Amino acid sequence: MPLPPYRIKVVEPIPFLGPEERAAALHAAGYNPFNLRADQITVDLLSDSGTGATSAAQEAAAALGDESYAGARSWFRFRDELAELTGYPHLLPVHQGRAGERILFGALLRPGQICVSNTHFDTTHANVELAGAEPRDLPCPEALDLDSPDPFKGNIDLTALAELLSGPEGGRVGLVLMTITNNGLGAQPVSMANLEAAHALCREHGVPFFLDAARFAENAWLVREREPGYHDWTPRAIARQAFDLADGCVISLKKDGLSNIGGCLGLRDDDLYARCEANLIATEGFSTYGGLSGRDLERLAVGLREVVEPAYLAARAAATARLAQLINDAGVDTVQPAGIHALYLNAGRLLPHLTPAEFPGHSLGCRLFLDGGIRCAELGSLYLGTMDERHRLVTPAPFELVRLAIPRRVYGQEHLDHVAETLAAIAKDPERVSGYRIVSTPPMLRHFKVRLEPIRP
Ligand code: F0G
Repeated sequence: MPLPPYRIKVVEPIPFLGPEERAAALHAAGYNPFNLRADQITVDLLSDSGTGATSAAQEAAAALGDESYAGARSWFRFRDELAELTGYPHLLPVHQGRAGERILFGALLRPGQICVSNTHFDTTHANVELAGAEPRDLPCPEALDLDSPDPFKGNIDLTALAELLSGPEGGRVGLVLMTITNNGLGAQPVSMANLEAAHALCREHGVPFFLDAARFAENAWLVREREPGYHDWTPRAIARQAFDLADGCVISLKKDGLSNIGGCLGLRDDDLYARCEANLIATEGFSTYGGLSGRDLERLAVGLREVVEPAYLAARAAATARLAQLINDAGVDTVQPAGIHALYLNAGRLLPHLTPAEFPGHSLGCRLFLDGGIRCAELGSLYLGTMDERHRLVTPAPFELVRLAIPRRVYGQEHLDHVAETLAAIAKDPERVSGYRIVSTPPMLRHFKVRLEPIRP
């Protein structure tokens, strides 16, 4: 087991509520984990985004942050680091990934066009629609077999992409966006071979090819481990190869920027850059800060170096793989093979006594909180299903999953063992897990604000 290449200097207490206190907290939250207070949670696996720990070197750099309105020293440090990593001639800072998506799609996509992806993340999907375009996912067929051990289930379906580009709708494709790693479908990586082939198809048809590179370092690590020919490459060189293939990228730096906030756009085209910059200045901030403080930019400049260190990536990948093994050994299936930033529990299979309309993923998530103070996110019919006006499920999601997202450098082995032990106890008596029904739901973005109640007390 590779040792994490750091020790802990600053700690933060975590709360331990009793079972009755947790039951009361979840009841008051309308059985929606988004409504829980963070100080009611013992192990918070809701997201790996902006939830990581910064290093002493990042905090030391932050102390030197230059908060000048324009042309701050911190901007140049950030820009130079990102330029060296990605090679893009034009870089724009944004406060987080979705701001970059909004600006890029607004400048690049025309109403009626199609944006193709291996899988759009939910905000990406929403920002494509806000630009008047249609998001279309073309995941590879292996991705839809949760148990398949295929090493690159994040790949785009090249046959379907080629058919789309050369078929009657080909002229409407305005962008191909590859999400590395594929967060919407099990944290699975995209191979370099798949990126190269998708790039070649886009070049042949004159379609811009971009990366949603939120987890560029973790994708690079999995390429190094799984794709023949890359084993002696550094993660940094692999990431650079991926950036080289694309016309640009949007990155949420709240993940592999090892920062609590931040994002960026990387572009090659001068005209596209000018249009994005104008929008950035109007909506995010001047083009040398884009909604970030000088201190954030300094933390990012250091984080972008730390995240591609092989020892860091090896330890993080091993910690997730170990948790997956413990969970699988306890009889709970996860999407195979394990990725790095998250594990996806197959709640539908663990809880066959619950129908999709009783939300097995949500039910398992609530049980994890009630039994172990663990917070996680449902990725099943509550999030993705369609409902009628009386909140009854009409079309279920293809899978009933629960995502355990692992914040970077935050939890030790004991915390992850606690997650595995809590799940193992649930798996011994799964029938104990009650289903849920919806009490009220907002008109948009259901999963953030929905309120539910257990079917059995
Ligand atoms: N793209 C991907 C692949 C993401 O996972 C996210 C965010 C974004 C874009 C948007 O970035 O949050 O900085 O605006 N994912 C988080 C998650 C929220 O929990 O997976 P953002």
